[in-house]
Amino acid sequence: MSGSDQNNKPTAELSVVIPTFKERGNVAELVRRLDLALAGIAWEAIFVDDSSPDGTAAAVKQIAARDPRVRCLLRVGRRGLAGACIEGILSSAAPYVAVMDADLQHDEKVLPAMLAKLTNGQADLVAATRYVTGGSAQGLEGSRGGISRLATRLTHRLVGTPLSDPMSGFFMMRRDRFDEIAPRLSPAGFKILLDIAATAGAKLRIAEQPYSFGERFDGESKFNAQIGVEFLGLLLAKMTGDLVDPRFIFFAIVGTIGLFVHLFALGLLLVFLPPQPDLFRAAQIAATFVAMVSNFLLNNELTYRDRRLKGWSMLKGFVLFGLIGSVGVLANVDLAGWLYMERPIWWAAGAAGAVMSALWNYAMSTLFVWRAR
Ligand code: GDD
Ligand code: MN
Repeated sequence: MSGSDQNNKPTAELSVVIPTFKERGNVAELVRRLDLALAGIAWEAIFVDDSSPDGTAAAVKQIAARDPRVRCLLRVGRRGLAGACIEGILSSAAPYVAVMDADLQHDEKVLPAMLAKLTNGQADLVAATRYVTGGSAQGLEGSRGGISRLATRLTHRLVGTPLSDPMSGFFMMRRDRFDEIAPRLSPAGFKILLDIAATAGAKLRIAEQPYSFGERFDGESKFNAQIGVEFLGLLLAKMTGDLVDPRFIFFAIVGTIGLFVHLFALGLLLVFLPPQPDLFRAAQIAATFVAMVSNFLLNNELTYRDRRLKGWSMLKGFVLFGLIGSVGVLANVDLAGWLYMERPIWWAAGAAGAVMSALWNYAMSTLFVWRAR
């Protein structure tokens, strides 16, 4: 069959994968700059667009109709930066793949230097970084600079990573290495590079390339609180070696906060109430209610942020959440009582009951209140 091959050179040595959402005003300029920066390299550009309402895909396809190096992978019914990058890379047949943003904040002029570090066998992945000498993050406006630095420090603390800029969305790697780990990557969130490095572990040889993060050319950033929460979830999942669902970790954190809210409310009420058993019971009931409201609101904002309830459905959800919690308490007391009868170890019976009701609340809230999965 190889007799029919024109030559043995790959049609593209480098695929540049560019996730886009509402970037119509940037694609032509980006292709123009890639053409200049990658002169002498057999490259292709794969734009992965999540059906942007501004017609980004049409703009890309208009270029692709004239330039065989440009392609548009149009996704329907899905959203997400990491997932778009994963699918774009998987669609490539080139030996090397790069990921970069469409808004020209990532400096395309460093791409040849990154490619050289891969082709000379020095590394399997080259991460472009703003945080070593020669790099800079001047293009990050206002609070984003602080958030990025905080997230970077948190990442270095919580998950060991050799990346100086784990938040970067700009990197290049050998495609064969990517294909190996692709099934274990998470399509949620923004942090594809960190996910790749954490999932591949020490076997992946990483080099870095400093660059200056520039200003956005056209349009606006899609970063938001939802993406921040997903990022925390990714960190937590990696900390537990992917054993525990990040949603459950958030649920447990909210529950723990709820305990403190409960004690705080109870303490506050007791300051104003004379010390009588009946009044204590009333205060305990009130504190339980306060904690339940706080748990519901925090779970709605954090744990189930992607399925947040609003307006009437929030009220309905709260009633359901309360019912589920009440059944959880009964199950808790039942189990603990039964265990204590079998073997009178108070703390083991008590803890088993509490864990049991936490799991029950989590499973039922996920299924029926927020209907996630
Ligand atoms: N297909 C697709 N789907 N693309 C998306 C989506 C999505 O849901 N969300 C964002 N993108 C694309 C944007 O169109 C852009 O090309 C790129 O992903 C980055 O999105 P921006 O909205 O420009 O993000 P940013 O500038 O705030 O953040 C960038 O810089 C950060 C550094 O602080 C990203 O590269 C981050 O990964 C990086 O951490
Ligand atoms: Mn950007």
